[in-house]
Amino acid sequence: MIIQKTTQPRIHNFDPKNFTFGNDFIDHMLICEYENGKWGEPKIMPYGPLGFTPAMMGINYGQACFEGMKAYKDKNGDVFLFRPEKNFKRINKSAKRLAMPEISEEIFMEGLKALVDIDRDWVPYGEGTSLYLRPLIFATEEALKARIATKYMFAIVATPVKNYYSEPISVKIADYYSRSASGGVGSAKAAGNYAAAFYPTKLANEEGYEQIIWTDDNTHEYFEESGTMNVFVRINDTIYTPPVSEKILDGVTRDSFIQLAKHNNIEVKDEPISVKLVLEAHSKGELKEVWGVGTAVVTNVFKALGYKDKKYNLPDLKEEESFSLKLKKQLVGIQTNEAEDPFGWRIKVEKKY
Ligand code: COI
Repeated sequence: MIIQKTTQPRIHNFDPKNFTFGNDFIDHMLICEYENGKWGEPKIMPYGPLGFTPAMMGINYGQACFEGMKAYKDKNGDVFLFRPEKNFKRINKSAKRLAMPEISEEIFMEGLKALVDIDRDWVPYGEGTSLYLRPLIFATEEALKARIATKYMFAIVATPVKNYYSEPISVKIADYYSRSASGGVGSAKAAGNYAAAFYPTKLANEEGYEQIIWTDDNTHEYFEESGTMNVFVRINDTIYTPPVSEKILDGVTRDSFIQLAKHNNIEVKDEPISVKLVLEAHSKGELKEVWGVGTAVVTNVFKALGYKDKKYNLPDLKEEESFSLKLKKQLVGIQTNEAEDPFGWRIKVEKKY
């Protein structure tokens, strides 16, 4: 790995008490180029613009996928990654689905650890804070024939973050637009999945909803995801979450919530959830909580569901009554080294560079 450290660090201009999600970038980034059928040597270099033209295939035909993951700092200043092997596997699953070359475990893991190590001072410490890491792969070839590109870049950039959405939000259950389709790219973290969601989300925003609960493209009768998150529903004391499929992202936070819930002896049903089931439970007073989970948000509690022209308010549970907040607290405790990690999820970033 080539390491070229910056001579003009910006860390001293960064105010850890005053920043917003995803707007400040750490001093370095990792890049690695693919051509002639193989990945080259990864390079950590000062963060900054790269030279591409508008004829770059990735921005014309959308061969681009990414990951979202975080590094956390504990009270001793040690830095940890959370289940990074899941993101490594998933970026390759996404790359494969988009006909892009897979990245090696060595480039992904060693590159990630070295970048976080070099910029460890950028990992904020304090409640709800972390360093958000964005590995991505995109086609860099300059050509306009619609075909599989031959040149790519793997990059990792990172930004200090705080809670993504802090307040409970209202969400609209989709009855027309879809996030994914059978045989499509829903289970890949394809950049285009996010682009395609922006317009329906804008329409939902105009109706007073912050996000959408995506439903299946065929009947719109079953929950799939919510916004950029996986979705959970609690009916009485059972938690439901739609099973991962080719249409639903295999979320790392989703999997962690399921394992934590089981660890707490909470019944989890990883099975299709119909809109009908949820609204019937609401009318019987059995719908206790609905929430989204994802790396960026960790958990976002929903305060109301909108369906067709009706709004269904959800109970405002106290922290001690809420499964979502209890599981979130346990998860963040593990991520930030405040709690035991019975699952072996936390990986310490050793000081090497
Ligand atoms: C994540 O939770 O990492 C996501 O993918 C959301 C992101 C689009 C901000």
